[in-house]
Amino acid sequence: MIKYDFTGKNVIVTGGSMGLGASICEEFAAAKANVVIADINIDEANKKKEELSKYGTKIITSKLDVSNYEEFVSLIEKVKNELGSIDILVNNAGICKSAPLTDMDVNECNAMVNINLNGTIYGCKAVLPVMKEQNYGKIVNISSMAAKLGNANSAVYATTKAGILELTACLAREYAPFNINVNCVLPGIIRTPLWENMLDSYTNGDPAGKDAMFQQITKDIPLGRPQEPKDIANAVLFLCTEEASNITAQNLGVDGGQSY
Ligand SMILES: NC(=O)c1ccc[n+]([C@@H]2O[C@H](COP(=O)([O-])OP(=O)(O)OC[C@H]3O[C@@H](n4cnc5c(N)ncnc54)[C@H](O)[C@@H]3O)[C@@H](O)[C@H]2O)c1
Repeated sequence: MIKYDFTGKNVIVTGGSMGLGASICEEFAAAKANVVIADINIDEANKKKEELSKYGTKIITSKLDVSNYEEFVSLIEKVKNELGSIDILVNNAGICKSAPLTDMDVNECNAMVNINLNGTIYGCKAVLPVMKEQNYGKIVNISSMAAKLGNANSAVYATTKAGILELTACLAREYAPFNINVNCVLPGIIRTPLWENMLDSYTNGDPAGKDAMFQQITKDIPLGRPQEPKDIANAVLFLCTEEASNITAQNLGVDGGQSY
């Protein structure tokens, strides 16, 4: 097991209350980082904060809707004032609705674009001035293997996630002169609340039906199992280490071989 050490580093994770974000927060806290859990669901964020208190680092919660640029700017200002620096931003918050485009409400399309894509752009735009001034920073954007698959029923979601790949590459080159690394992690299939909601919608919430469907969806993964939140968190932490300091503009798939 890699033993990460982020002592003294200040990390913001959007969507850090649940699912992958919660695991990323936990692994950073376990590696001695101070962690800001920024989430639209502040009650869950506060629960997570209590769980992470055992690690003894500073854990801060902040209500944030990533699709609201002004809220993001205020968060960055608040964290900078409170912690002194912002070393790492993980743009993780995202939503997913899977359906043929013709069946999808335009408001659902807009929500995915606003949260998944604009939310990531806003996070980068808000934090980069601080990182530039520090001449140091790591940004990890959470995309999805869906960005590369061209699957039916995921046109809008996959497009928002594909946009994140290009955003990452452009910003990586734009801010490389300021010692800022920008990378992407592309998770595969992880049974978080996001997937639970999708399984609910496909099966009307029938528990056995949900399990059977999840098994069916994940049966052909080359490495033989769906991913765990910790698989994704490990990749995120690695990209933020000094050992990874020459890695930027990259897309790291963590999907058991489902994409390449
Ligand atoms: N679970 C998977 O299989 C999978 C696969 C590929 C990519 N992803 C991506 O990983 C990221 C995390 O997914 P997850 O499975 O943990 O999802 P999740 O639904 O389990 O958790 C998402 C978190 O984001 C928060 N959130 C939602 N909207 C927000 C907003 N507007 N502002 C701030 N916070 C908000 C939620 O409150 C929640 O804490 C997403 O970007 C998702 O697209 C997930």
